[in-house]
Amino acid sequence: MTIPRHNDINASPVWAKLHQHQRATRHMHMRELFDTDSRRFDKFSLEFDGLLLDYSKNRLTERTLSLLFELAEAADLTGWMDRMRSGERINISENRAVLHTALRLPESASLMVDGRNVVPEVHAVLRAMKQFTDTVRAGAWYGIEGRPVTDVVNLGIGGSDLGPQVVTEALAPYATPDLRIHFVSNVDGQDIARTLARLQPETTLFIVASKSFTTPETLLNAEAAKKWFVKRTGQGDIRRHFVAVSANPEAVEAFGIDPANRFTFWDWVGGRYSVWSAIGLPVMMAVGYERFCQLLDGAHTMDNHFFGASFTRNMPVILALIGVWYNTFYGAHTHAIMPYDHGLRRLPAHIQQLDMESNGKRVGRHGERLDFDTGPVIWGEEGVNSQHAFFQLLHQGTRLVPCDFIVPMNTHYPVDHQHAVLVANCFAQSEALMRGKGEAEVLAELAHLTGDELDMLLPQKLFPGNQPSNTLALDRVTPRTLGMLLALYEHRVFVQGVIWGINSFDQWGVEYGKQLARRILPELKAPDQALAHDSSTNGLIRHFRRQYHAD
Ligand code: F6P
Repeated sequence: MTIPRHNDINASPVWAKLHQHQRATRHMHMRELFDTDSRRFDKFSLEFDGLLLDYSKNRLTERTLSLLFELAEAADLTGWMDRMRSGERINISENRAVLHTALRLPESASLMVDGRNVVPEVHAVLRAMKQFTDTVRAGAWYGIEGRPVTDVVNLGIGGSDLGPQVVTEALAPYATPDLRIHFVSNVDGQDIARTLARLQPETTLFIVASKSFTTPETLLNAEAAKKWFVKRTGQGDIRRHFVAVSANPEAVEAFGIDPANRFTFWDWVGGRYSVWSAIGLPVMMAVGYERFCQLLDGAHTMDNHFFGASFTRNMPVILALIGVWYNTFYGAHTHAIMPYDHGLRRLPAHIQQLDMESNGKRVGRHGERLDFDTGPVIWGEEGVNSQHAFFQLLHQGTRLVPCDFIVPMNTHYPVDHQHAVLVANCFAQSEALMRGKGEAEVLAELAHLTGDELDMLLPQKLFPGNQPSNTLALDRVTPRTLGMLLALYEHRVFVQGVIWGINSFDQWGVEYGKQLARRILPELKAPDQALAHDSSTNGLIRHFRRQYHAD
């Protein structure tokens, strides 16, 4: 197979047809679509293995969908799915395969990359993780004073933090109560300092999680943790207290970590797709090997669905195409993610990295300039807190903001009828966003008013509605359903990247700021060094020099 050279999707006939279709249907209101078709939910919802996707509250018809499926064909989505699945080097700017799906293959499967079956390697690492986490969880991994581990600190950032953090939080009901898991990511010293202040070095285990083992934020935190450990214990040997997850063995060893305690992964696993690899070590530490395998199994189930189902019954494909519809053809700039589950509260941050680092690109795979908008701004917050923060804008603001509501039907924490209240709020929001509230309804509510007061209040109480949303209803947040959910979003991002002709697996855009920070750092510390930035940056550096008091 070869990687097609030109991205000319916006020159395809279906691109023009979709624009035309958008112009023809943009005044259509979803309320009318529901009023005129009692079967709309049946037509535009999909259930798969305990996961329900309701996409009926979208500004679309059967014609919209069929054009979007045509668009997917024009972008050769099937070809790209095959290329990814088979290990072709579709991350061409880094000359890498993209095989996070291989991390969740069962041991009996086989996947050849560069003439080697990678599945046994994947399972060998899983076994090593099992052996290690079983030992720690059993209280049989002894620190310097022969005491068992009570606290595990994951030091990592980006994909080496967000994925494992979301999953560990979400699966808290399955976690062993004897181990506390902490995540430290920020180079802001208060992150590590506040965490360390709660810990005893003799019973703490640090996981230094960095694929490259060159990420400054992570290495600085790891050095700070090492210093703290050595100072507090008087021990120079850190090997019982520091392990690493990394693809860089030399750097891990140079840090002082026993090579036997390095858990590896491969260049074909992108950081933001790595929770399924050894980067998931804190997850396995919290919930154990079996449950980690259930997480992988959930993701694998979603992979099979994605690679196997026709576009018309394919959850990631449908979600991705609906996103393209708003983003590209409606000009929506953002997409909101609202998990109605406290354990999933960090999910928007994870999907933000997953989506924005993948599809926040202005050029195509071969460097060609793209003449249309690509990845949206992803943002969000847990429900119902978000209702009391930004929903006002969704209901009565001027912007089109497509939303995803994610909600489990059952809770691990039954407190009176609070779960039903939570679900009621979730369903009510999507209903209100869709329906809006028209003049007749408001007038009926304000029947006691007349004159100026009525004129003033009426427009303020109107809700335009027609604000689109998808609802993903899980039976319950379990390792398996969570695996399905995360893989669903990974594939959604992939499909959108394919439609837009993007390489979703590199991230050159994060390099420049890092480069400039390396230049500014010594300038902050050297008061006499001449500055040659713009006047704003120079002014800020000088301000810091005047204000900062080193301890
Ligand atoms: O932010 C850039 C990035 O490379 C992410 O893609 C990655 O998840 C993160 O930094 C951490 O990288 P590493 O695991 O190599 O420390």
